[in-house]
Amino acid sequence: MPLFLEDYLAMSATRDGRLRPVAQTIAEMAKAAAVVQAAIASARIPQHAEANPDRVNATGDAQKALDVFADESFLAAAKASPVFCYGSEEQDAPVVLGKGSLALAIDPLDGSSNIDTNVSVGTIFSLLPALDEHREDPVRMYCQPGTRQLAAGIFIYGPQLLLVVTLGLGTKTFIYLPERAGFALLRTSASVPEDAAEYSINASNRRHWPAHVRRYIEDAEAGRDGPRRRNFGMRYVGSLVAETYRILQRGGVFLYPSDRRDGYGSGRLRQVYEANPIAFCIEQAGGAATNGTTRILDLVPETLHARTPLVFGSKGEVETFAGYIGKQTI
Ligand code: F6P
Repeated sequence: MPLFLEDYLAMSATRDGRLRPVAQTIAEMAKAAAVVQAAIASARIPQHAEANPDRVNATGDAQKALDVFADESFLAAAKASPVFCYGSEEQDAPVVLGKGSLALAIDPLDGSSNIDTNVSVGTIFSLLPALDEHREDPVRMYCQPGTRQLAAGIFIYGPQLLLVVTLGLGTKTFIYLPERAGFALLRTSASVPEDAAEYSINASNRRHWPAHVRRYIEDAEAGRDGPRRRNFGMRYVGSLVAETYRILQRGGVFLYPSDRRDGYGSGRLRQVYEANPIAFCIEQAGGAATNGTTRILDLVPETLHARTPLVFGSKGEVETFAGYIGKQTI
């Protein structure tokens, strides 16, 4: 008999009463994720359909009809949960729901620019405490460091519907079983393999990278003949949830650094609803996540939509990357 998500959430809430609202919220979100997966799988909402050709989301990405559908689905889940405010990539400002002890930060459909290629996409979420002192100014609610997260996770819409989740007690993976209409435990404890044999970066940006990134990648490319004295493989999907799950399974390192393009001075990825939840899941699985100089979870975001350079994966490899910053020679 598999352990179902509801049972795991109930056990966690029994162990620590403060996790009760978290458990309730994740259970509601899991129902929404099944609905989003069904919409994607059936192509009921055409994958290429733009929500509105003139509309981009809060961070400048084109908004698809599926982005809007996912956003509405998770907003409805938040309304049915003890969530005070809903801060979404798809909304300029947090939506105040006015009750509850949690602030939910979410990228409802990450990687949606890839969805017409049938690549795995996902929902990334972070649950923070809704602090009394910020109830009048909900944006401030999201300016807490990632260390304050109560839980974080990703739903992955791929060949399987998966939930990778942490409540600060390790990282667990659940799989959706349609015949049971529920998520069952797939991996008791995810752990990022220590050794990295793969790196993941959008190499088309090479000419814009800072010197330490170019150097690190060149040394990896040099393989056994170079200073690293070992061969590396390269994988880049262009969908953050797919890269994250691959790294949880096989180890490796993902990099989205800052670069010299306009608007990429702090990289591309969003700190509150991409980097923080992924860093929490990765750390709880024994890996590491940094912006290059500082642990991701220690950064204090300035806004809900702040960006950060993001490097995460096998701990030793993340540390090796950070070592390149001090020894630039180009
Ligand atoms: O943030 C959206 C996203 O699609 C991520 O899922 C992915 O890691 C990244 O953008 C890809 O960016 P680029 O196309 O610049 O490599």
